[in-house]
Amino acid sequence: MRFPAELRAAVDAVTAEIPHFELARAAAELSVAYRGSNPCTRMDSNTKLGAYLQVRMPATFAAAGRVFNEIAVRFPEWQPRSMLDLGAGPGTAMWAAAEVFPSIQSFTLLEKDAAMCSAGERLAKASSTEAIRQASWRQGDLAQMPRSKTDLIVMSYVLGELTTDAQRAAIESARAHAGDLLVIISPGTPVDFQTVLAARQQLLGAGMHILAPCPHEVECPMASANDWCHFSQRLERSSEHRKLKGAELGYEDEKFSYLIASRTAHEQVSGRIVRHPLKYAGHVKLHLCTGSGLKQSTITKSQRKLYRKARRAEWGDVWSEE
Ligand SMILES: C[S@@+](CC[C@H](N)C(=O)[O-])C[C@H]1O[C@@H](n2cnc3c(N)ncnc32)[C@H](O)[C@@H]1O
Repeated sequence: MRFPAELRAAVDAVTAEIPHFELARAAAELSVAYRGSNPCTRMDSNTKLGAYLQVRMPATFAAAGRVFNEIAVRFPEWQPRSMLDLGAGPGTAMWAAAEVFPSIQSFTLLEKDAAMCSAGERLAKASSTEAIRQASWRQGDLAQMPRSKTDLIVMSYVLGELTTDAQRAAIESARAHAGDLLVIISPGTPVDFQTVLAARQQLLGAGMHILAPCPHEVECPMASANDWCHFSQRLERSSEHRKLKGAELGYEDEKFSYLIASRTAHEQVSGRIVRHPLKYAGHVKLHLCTGSGLKQSTITKSQRKLYRKARRAEWGDVWSEE
């Protein structure tokens, strides 16, 4: 899913006054923070906020778009009317959700950082989507989460910024108020995966069901294999994004972990591809997560239809051999 042109133009307008060298330095600091385990994104300067909008917002937008698409493909008939974005930053997940779920009429965004809120409101004013322009922005802590049921609640790249106790409290509150689905997205690092895993256990323990990425609700086999469940989403870099990063490539791959939890049970998929498929001449090797653990499956040319499907398969896709 591409970063919307109107959002790109609005981001460029918000950052236009910031000298390029300052933005580039802040973008480099953000990249280092995101490669580490503790990205501190406190927007203590306009420059840091500008760097977030230019280099991080497109990446989290791409990850959120991918996760929302997973829902839309699986439940094409689901038409959410309301969404609550917790730790909304500049409203990234709202923009992605509006592309995938045009049925959403009411967006509420809770964000503690005043500068993020005002940048997000400014970007939203530039949208051609009425629900984005009319979104309700609330500056405050997750602990003051609105106490009303919302079809879709999203926590995108925020859990890692909370203490363990605050994570548990926010997840419990989000669970209690999610009308249908609760979506958690985190950077795709081993440390952030532990946070997602703890959220999975908490939500299962509270009676929620896991729709994705897990094709089961039994113990996560990744954890015992000393591995971490994460995926990768390619996104285009704008020319400004490329310049700020001093990058040659016109794209980057955003690594992320996620969880889609549902109030109601749905039929499980039979497996999910949890690594890049290895595509050789005549056979494809798939690393799968299944209800009976992690498995490798080799699909050969002689399996004709399945082989054609395997050649098109991507890391993160659901997989069945029927
Ligand atoms: C990494 S940013 C992610 C922003 C946005 N969700 C996205 O995907 O681009 C994390 C955001 O969570 C906000 N945040 C962190 N702790 C919070 C809290 N306790 N209450 C509300 N917002 C919080 C931060 O201010 C920051 O804007």
